[in-house]
Amino acid sequence: MSKLGKYQIKDFISQEQIQERIKSLGQEITNHYKDESIVMLGVLKGSFIFLADLCRSIDLPAQIEFIGLSSYKDQTTSSGKITITNKLSASLKDKHVLIVEDIYDTGLTLKFLLEHLKEHSPKSLKICTLLKKQIPTQIDLPIDFYGFTIPSEFVVGFGLDVAEDLRHLPMISILQP
Ligand code: PRP
Repeated sequence: MSKLGKYQIKDFISQEQIQERIKSLGQEITNHYKDESIVMLGVLKGSFIFLADLCRSIDLPAQIEFIGLSSYKDQTTSSGKITITNKLSASLKDKHVLIVEDIYDTGLTLKFLLEHLKEHSPKSLKICTLLKKQIPTQIDLPIDFYGFTIPSEFVVGFGLDVAEDLRHLPMISILQP
């Protein structure tokens, strides 16, 4: 347990565990797409660190794009309303798109994004998330690649925030109430 400013956090997934898992995820993704070109679409802000590491662990031609979506704001539960904070600026038409997310929690963000991206006519659409929460009320979505399944705890670090803080932590920690 450690204290960081006003936050109390507990170690959960170490830097080494994350890096090892990202390497094997990179291999899985490379094997899946073979030599096809892909677009890795990072969902800001949470995915920025994961995407930076994941794109360096694949061996494929890849374009990197971003979309910004937000629903938690300063809270630790979803507001249920997804806002587009950064519009997609590239065409995804006829491309193999891999959505890169930090966490699949309620599933509301990914459900919104899947619907939104259908209008962009990608050739294929797959999802890679670093963390997959296990909660009974979760919207059921097809997750093609994921790093870790986690229990229903509020996690921070490695891109994940609490009220915009603690994204910079190199490991994933559990925020204490
Ligand atoms: C977080 C996270 C995911 C989403 C997952 O985003 O980065 O995008 O919530 O939660 P869900 O499955 O319950 O929808 P947030 O709204 O906190 O914005 P951020 O990425 O800017 O932190």
